Amino acid sequence: RAWAHYKFVVKEVPCTRLCSTKNILTVNGQFPGPTLYVHKGDTIIVDVYNRGKYNFTIHWHGVTQPRNPWTDGPEYITQCPIQPGAKFRQKIILTTEEGTLWWHAHSDWTRATVYGAMIIYPKWGTTYPFPKPDAEIPIILGDWWKQDIKEVLDELLLSGGEGNYSDAFTINGQPGDLYPCSKQDTFRLKVERGLTYLLRIINSAVQDMLFFAIADHNLTVVGSDASYLKPFKRSFIVISPGQTIDVLLEANQNPNHYYMAAKSYTVAAEGVFDNTTTTAIVEYSGNYTPSSPPLFPYLPYYNDTLASVNFTASLRSLADKEHPIDVPMEINTYLFYTLSMNTFPCPNNSCSGPNGTRLLASVNNISFVNPEIDILEAYYYCIPGVFGIRFPDFPPLFYNFTEEYYPLSYEIPTRGTEVKILDYNSTVELVFQGTSLLLGSDHPMHLHGFSFYVVGVGLGNFDNEKDPLTYNLVDPPLQNTIIVPVKGWLTIRFKANNPGVWYMHCHFDRHMVWGMDAVFIVKNGKSPEAKLPPPPNDMPPCYYKAVP
Ligand code: C2O
Ligand code: CU
Repeated sequence: RAWAHYKFVVKEVPCTRLCSTKNILTVNGQFPGPTLYVHKGDTIIVDVYNRGKYNFTIHWHGVTQPRNPWTDGPEYITQCPIQPGAKFRQKIILTTEEGTLWWHAHSDWTRATVYGAMIIYPKWGTTYPFPKPDAEIPIILGDWWKQDIKEVLDELLLSGGEGNYSDAFTINGQPGDLYPCSKQDTFRLKVERGLTYLLRIINSAVQDMLFFAIADHNLTVVGSDASYLKPFKRSFIVISPGQTIDVLLEANQNPNHYYMAAKSYTVAAEGVFDNTTTTAIVEYSGNYTPSSPPLFPYLPYYNDTLASVNFTASLRSLADKEHPIDVPMEINTYLFYTLSMNTFPCPNNSCSGPNGTRLLASVNNISFVNPEIDILEAYYYCIPGVFGIRFPDFPPLFYNFTEEYYPLSYEIPTRGTEVKILDYNSTVELVFQGTSLLLGSDHPMHLHGFSFYVVGVGLGNFDNEKDPLTYNLVDPPLQNTIIVPVKGWLTIRFKANNPGVWYMHCHFDRHMVWGMDAVFIVKNGKSPEAKLPPPPNDMPPCYYKAVP
């Protein structure tokens, strides 16, 4: 077990993309931010200094943080923000995760530019379940806005409209040579024929699921969300925001230049979207004349839901002797959460959503509202009036969720801060049901504090009789983020063995800020190892915080 210590100084630096320069928020002036290299089982300390102008928090996406929600990071869920000028020491406790994860800002939209990779090597003295690759490369997919990111957020929150979409996607921070003023800095991956490369692919885009491929090369998928998979080959992958996918790339083609490319997979429910393509170049070494332009890969059509559902359905845990799985078999807590897009009335129809309404999103028809004191501290110190404990286990109204027409009254959600309380060690089965409200959308759902087994997925309304018969309880993938298909359902299982307060939300930031969020409080167990420890003494103060 090793300890590593990092210093993250959060500050604005000028950055030039797409022919113009603007200030962006970064860690240590780097974009993308620094990569953390750790081993399975390590504990890391990161000292976060906010030297920016705005409130800030940071989250270690996919790290389960056993009994340590205190430094998990989501603003107003587990902490109040780190004020400009302040500092917070965050502990990252790695236990079972192995592979690729990442970290990102978790305060408003700051994550648009504040993110980086986390590479988790096997425990010292152990190795990968596949032949050791000759080199490993993080591939961080992201996006770029010409507009100031605060303005994009204000549009979504204040005017209630759909906001702007990004102006470019990026690979390792670079838009690539199909965009103006970007050719020079296009990311280049130099390879040697005969060698194998482990690409650790992360989707940090704020709004978009992405198709990703490399011309003339199959990708062997070997892991996702820091858990190993039964290897399978594909000519392209689908990756949701928040998710990571590890693939092996064999440099087994004729020496040449090949594009790697990513573009949006979108169910363009809310209107326009960024339909551009980001590229990088895979460059074989040797003496040859490369094709110009480089060879381009096939990517599916932007709204190819079937391509996406099929890809998700092919993820299977390795589930071998060294990597056993632990799917809860006896369930004592059944939950059914509808995921909906909604409109909400505005005074004098003054908002810029449909018919002067504002856009919201909801889970079980409750659109989550951030409190002013974080839920974790409110829970720990028993501060009244911060949250309610009546999050519904089932939607308050039943209807044909994926029907084209539905009573309009179902469209208006309740706004509130309600949480769901789980007993320690309860075994949870949660069915997400996508709905067709406002035409619906895919939702990449992410859970903090746990990885979960994805035991089933399908299109249409969930059928309580038939669909459970199709569940994979043998080798389901262990994920922290998964795409719930538009007008479809998806079932996860996990054991609530991590006491604390844990956020669950759609990893499209616009849906998150519109209220597609839920919070679990997992109660303490009896033994001392099953209890939430007290907070660190440098917790960022809440502006409104009552003295406990
Ligand atoms: Cu990737 Cu709540 O975050
Ligand atoms: Cu969503």
